Amino acid sequence: MSDAHDGGAVRGADAEERSVEASLRPASLGEYVGQGEAKRSLTTLLQAARERGEAADHLLLHGPPGLGKTTLAAIVAHELSVPIRFTSGPAIDHGGDLAAILTSLAPRQVLFIDEIHRLGRAVEEVLYPAMEDRAIDIVIGKGASAQPLRLEVPPFTLVGATTRVGMLSAPLRDRFGAVQRLDFYDDADLAAIVRRSAGILGIAIDDDAAALIAARSRGTPRTANRLLRRVRDEVQVAGGARVDATAAAAALEGLQIDDAGLDATDRKLLSVMIEKFDGGPVGVAAMAALLGESADALEDVFEPYLLRLGFLDRTPQGRVVTERGRAHLGRARDTIWGRG
Ligand SMILES: Nc1ncnc2c1ncn2[C@@H]1O[C@H](COP(=O)(O)OP(=O)(O)O)[C@@H](O)[C@H]1O
Ligand SMILES: [Mg+2]
Repeated sequence: MSDAHDGGAVRGADAEERSVEASLRPASLGEYVGQGEAKRSLTTLLQAARERGEAADHLLLHGPPGLGKTTLAAIVAHELSVPIRFTSGPAIDHGGDLAAILTSLAPRQVLFIDEIHRLGRAVEEVLYPAMEDRAIDIVIGKGASAQPLRLEVPPFTLVGATTRVGMLSAPLRDRFGAVQRLDFYDDADLAAIVRRSAGILGIAIDDDAAALIAARSRGTPRTANRLLRRVRDEVQVAGGARVDATAAAAALEGLQIDDAGLDATDRKLLSVMIEKFDGGPVGVAAMAALLGESADALEDVFEPYLLRLGFLDRTPQGRVVTERGRAHLGRARDTIWGRG
């Protein structure tokens, strides 16, 4: 799962978190909060497939981690009343592994390939004819007696997910009938997600407390759910029974999450860039080394939200801290978080 890439040591998901996440996953399109445009185009895609009694078009979902790609893939299968098979780019080593998966699919099944940008070239070569002609080409025998053989695969829907759509090869990208980008959520949608999750987890929470958590969740449902659980822990340890706004604010402060949703690592990144590099430009590899994170984690997890806030900028020479980023850090420094 892409969770391995959700921020390494800092924001990685452990086994417990993954099982909680599974319990919080909306099962149907109706329960899926926000992403109006994605839901509209998916509704059409799914309805058309249902009416024709065919497999739905292959679908590529892209966007930063934690925005609901895996969730949507499961919803596609649910809405089509077909099973789903989960795998990922790094898990498929050889073309033969993929051929075995493809030939064993149930008719119209959904095949979900997470981190599809990490499929090897040889594996992609197996995927192309499967996506296009529902066939795979294999070779039987060796040397002079080698025979090409074309095998049929059942009709299926490939749902691919990636945080790096730019890393997908053009031929692979072109074979998706639908390409959908997921964007960061607004605060109202995140608040709705927090309230929904609190209901499922049996957490009593006030609306203004849910709004507070939403505002600090970096536009990301996974972060919203994570903050909700950590705030609940803090409130419980402090002897409280209900998450109200005062308790939520205190808990978020204890977690060193500031009013823009940045945590100590984000602020460290900005401050080191300013102090050691005069604000940049700094290359991605150098930034990753400063944080002790992988370059992948930096680009997938930390950067997108800082870019979106306008705290960081991309230039051909590297990343730079903007005036806005400096101003935010200055404000954060004047508060308790500056010590983090
Ligand atoms: N639109 C949504 N509505 C409600 N919960 C969501 C939504 N999108 C994501 N989530 C929740 O956020 C968590 C992360 O979603 P996931 O699908 O694993 O993200 P991704 O695969 O893009 O990294 C899951 O627990 C899921 O329940
Ligand atoms: Mg995922």
